[in-house]
Amino acid sequence: MRNVDENTITQEVLERIANTPNPRVKEIMSALIRHLHDFAREVRLTEAEWFEGIRFLTDTGHITDEKRQEFILLSDVLGLSMLVIAQNHRKPAGCTEATVFGPFYIANAPEYPLGADLAQGAKGEPCYVQATVRGPDGEPVPRATVEVWQADAAGFYDVQYGGGEHRARGVLRADDQGRVYFKSVLAEAYPIPTDGPVGRMLDATARHPWRPAHMHFMVDAPGYERLITHVFRDGDRYLDSDAVFGVRSSLITTWDRHEAGLMPDGASSAVPFYTLKFAFVLNRSK
Ligand code: BEZ
Ligand code: FE
Repeated sequence: MRNVDENTITQEVLERIANTPNPRVKEIMSALIRHLHDFAREVRLTEAEWFEGIRFLTDTGHITDEKRQEFILLSDVLGLSMLVIAQNHRKPAGCTEATVFGPFYIANAPEYPLGADLAQGAKGEPCYVQATVRGPDGEPVPRATVEVWQADAAGFYDVQYGGGEHRARGVLRADDQGRVYFKSVLAEAYPIPTDGPVGRMLDATARHPWRPAHMHFMVDAPGYERLITHVFRDGDRYLDSDAVFGVRSSLITTWDRHEAGLMPDGASSAVPFYTLKFAFVLNRSK
């Protein structure tokens, strides 16, 4: 068809993809085209504004590499990540809720025995974590794999230092009763990276970049759905304004401060330390 205009262009583009063989690709592409066109119509997008949008997406691509994932960050701050997670992880009551994966996970983290210190030189006050992994009927999940990653006292992940070391990150295996315990450092609240296009967008929309203090967990066991979640620190000032909308009340727990003395594993700490406990409940896989 020739002479498409602002009233006929959407239908014309939809017809152009009518022969898409994969029905799901067709459904997604059709909806994307319709919503993009409706968006441009609703805001009466100007050419200068769309050029600015293309520049923003180009910058997002340019700053992205194996260590920096600006597209995940963009999806996170727009609430799209949490929307997709929420609609794909509806679980029975009592199962631990999922939250954002974030851009700081790295594959092949080192494995540690239970009780090990994952800090490996990360800066921060000592923190002893005791968790359990159970199924929906309360049954212990023996030998579950529990992967942990977190920020240090300065609010940075090991990967942000660029040295290639693994710090405050590791993989553990639950014991026969589904128990997991390890040492690390106290995770602090931190701002998501703001030195790229997503930071400019937060600025332009008068938003702060902070995430409340949390530890990341990924829990896997045969017969159960993978759980990707955080444990948040009760009392954190950013719990109600998380930059990426990831907080669930059920994921908040107290991180108790103790004076120097014996830690839960019987070792002595010469400095004050924290303890936190959390019970993960996995959903059965379908
Ligand atoms: C994180 O918790 O690691 C994170 C999540 C979303 C955006 C930035 C960081
Ligand atoms: Fe994080």
